[in-house]
Amino acid sequence: MSANSKKAHSIERTSTGHSKSGAAWLDLHFKATQDEYIELLRSVGIQPSWHVLDAGCGSGSFLPFIADLVGPSGKIHAVDVAKEHIVNVERRIEAGAFQCLVTADLSNTTSLPYADNAFDLVWCANVSEYLTDTELSESIREFSRVVKPGGLIAIKEFDGRSMTFYPADPWVLSRFIFSRFPTTSSIQGQYRAISTKFRMEELGLINVRQQTTLIEHSQPLRSVERAFLTDVFTGWASIARELDLSAEDKQFWQQQEDPDSPNHVINQPNFFWREGTILAVGQVEKR
Ligand SMILES: C[S@@+](CC[C@H](N)C(=O)[O-])C[C@H]1O[C@@H](n2cnc3c(N)ncnc32)[C@H](O)[C@@H]1O
Repeated sequence: MSANSKKAHSIERTSTGHSKSGAAWLDLHFKATQDEYIELLRSVGIQPSWHVLDAGCGSGSFLPFIADLVGPSGKIHAVDVAKEHIVNVERRIEAGAFQCLVTADLSNTTSLPYADNAFDLVWCANVSEYLTDTELSESIREFSRVVKPGGLIAIKEFDGRSMTFYPADPWVLSRFIFSRFPTTSSIQGQYRAISTKFRMEELGLINVRQQTTLIEHSQPLRSVERAFLTDVFTGWASIARELDLSAEDKQFWQQQEDPDSPNHVINQPNFFWREGTILAVGQVEKR
């Protein structure tokens, strides 16, 4: 298969313009990293019968796992700004996909349609990268308003600073990112993730803890890992065509356009991929 004939899911945008947010990409990325993601969700300490808000739920990858943790006596509200995700989650609710009551609402995290003190937890995964500094602070204030005193806010984000792969010139990815950095706000958001704890503390949350989890993929790649990484490299190769890079770097990225090529990095026997994800969890002070 030539990668040119198939557009990468990672660069397709939602109706609201967010890249890496369409259902096909979200589902693929989630499946490739599911074990680590579920471990992170579990580490928050969700209890049976909790009422949880999944803020920026996307295609709803986390919902069945949150539902399992809160059990039949728990409740979930899921919000997203992209209408297609809300429609999709509503379809899954109607099909009986979740073992607790789930409601999906079209809403922005900066202004939530819920009463004060409505939730035990806000879970917000891979959304902060799309928010400006102001929007992120507004969202954390909204989460603090809708969470009960003593309840939790958990913000999970991809850590742009941890990502690397091998074998390749160690700076080829840095130069690629550096070229995109000024114009791609989600990359800036991924580099900002490391400061989430301090922002939460500045906004009044207490007992804030933050950890980085490294997620690694190496040979032999499972088929879902291969599909996910093919999508990543195909997307990047397509973006690299438009960037101001050296001839050597252009050649490297051109080789990543065809995942069947023996020159593609994921076909190397010593191929290795690492990405980091940051989870910050804080508590709303008892008032
Ligand atoms: C990368 S996806 C993550 C989806 C899901 N949380 C996950 O981890 O699979 C980012 C999601 O955030 C949503 N989003 C972005 N900005 C938002 C905002 N201000 N309010 C609500 N949702 C937002 C996008 O529509 C998209 O579905």
